[in-house]
Amino acid sequence: MKLTRLHKFLLVLGGAAGLAYGTWVAADTHSADDIGDDLPTLDSIEVRASMQRPKMTLPSELTVVPVVKSGEYFVPPKIEDLDDSKYADEVRLGRNIFIDTQHYAKRFVGNGMNCSNCHLQEGRKPNAAPLWAAYPLYPMYRDKSRQVISFQERLQSCFRFSMNGMAPTLDSREIEALTTYAQWLSTGIPVGTIMAGRGFARIDKTDDPSPFNGAIHYKQYCASCHGEHLEGKKFTNRPGYMFPPLAGPDSYNKGAGMHKVKTCAGFVKANMPLGRPYTLTDDQALDVCVHIFMQDRPWDPRKGIFMSIFMPVTEG
Ligand code: HEC
Ligand code: HEC
Repeated sequence: MKLTRLHKFLLVLGGAAGLAYGTWVAADTHSADDIGDDLPTLDSIEVRASMQRPKMTLPSELTVVPVVKSGEYFVPPKIEDLDDSKYADEVRLGRNIFIDTQHYAKRFVGNGMNCSNCHLQEGRKPNAAPLWAAYPLYPMYRDKSRQVISFQERLQSCFRFSMNGMAPTLDSREIEALTTYAQWLSTGIPVGTIMAGRGFARIDKTDDPSPFNGAIHYKQYCASCHGEHLEGKKFTNRPGYMFPPLAGPDSYNKGAGMHKVKTCAGFVKANMPLGRPYTLTDDQALDVCVHIFMQDRPWDPRKGIFMSIFMPVTEG
């Protein structure tokens, strides 16, 4: 077929329109400017600081405890105090990715989680593996990979295991922005300082954990939010989870840190039930986590579906 001038013109026009659309879609996923209306929102700064412009209210029986008692833990800078420099833009983008990973880093996520589901209050909460305590300690040796890893590589591993997804490349917008966000949160902390509140609570085991008791504690302390079958609860008026799942296809995979019973117990002790931390004893937290551990979840991507059933758990 011979192309007329008009055909050629239409082809070029079509190509240009496609390119423009592609750019628009890409910009939509990453732009720091669209902080706002399409972000997930929940009430109560204390309980879920990740949610700005609250549109929903958490169950009213939730007691809100101030997590950061003054003087006890490091207090990271406030997002409102950022100016409009390029650095500040990058920080805001990183924060968006962190608290709404489902939207801002969708293509790298393979489950229903956001980073801030486990790193509570936008990665600020002490004893919920806060970013400000982590950043100054990298590069760091890690048994899981048997080498010294950078902060960026640590983030990649979160995407692979906790988010059951694909690791963004080291030079991706996602890794760069998340790193900038963490660096900003740690403003003022000297490199290499081990901060109080890093990681989760310490767990002292006095008894062998019991999955039987775990199921009972789960019903009493957790099921109201996370659902009877650990499936979580979705929002009714928009996509995403109001209460994240603890098992099933939308949860973290078997290679994740949370899949280690002791790590899970350390998290639960200091953070759950939400708004009432430190209500479970160490043994109760371990029991509940054995119950969680025994449920179905996505397999460890390093081992494949078959080996995941038989191989021991590793650190996430
Ligand atoms: C299912 C829960 C969960 C989710 C979701 C999750 N993480 Fe984590 N993260 C953990 C656990 C558990 C650890 C290990 C903490 C420990 O061992 O003290 C961890 C560790 C980290 C660390 C290192 C902390 C330190 O003190 O060295 C960083 C940084 C981090 N996560 C970032 C992220 C980012 C970014 C995302 C989202 C892309 C994310 N995490 C999603 C559970 C989670
Ligand atoms: C009042 C509601 C509520 C109760 C009760 C509650 N949780 Fe949660 N839980 C949440 C919310 C909300 C998050 C996510 C926090 C965020 O995004 O800010 C969460 C996060 C988690 C996470 C990390 C994210 C994930 O999905 O893996 C675990 C593990 C967890 N809860 C376990 C428990 C356990 C165990 C109990 C019972 C001891 C419990 N929770 C009780 C609301 C609750």
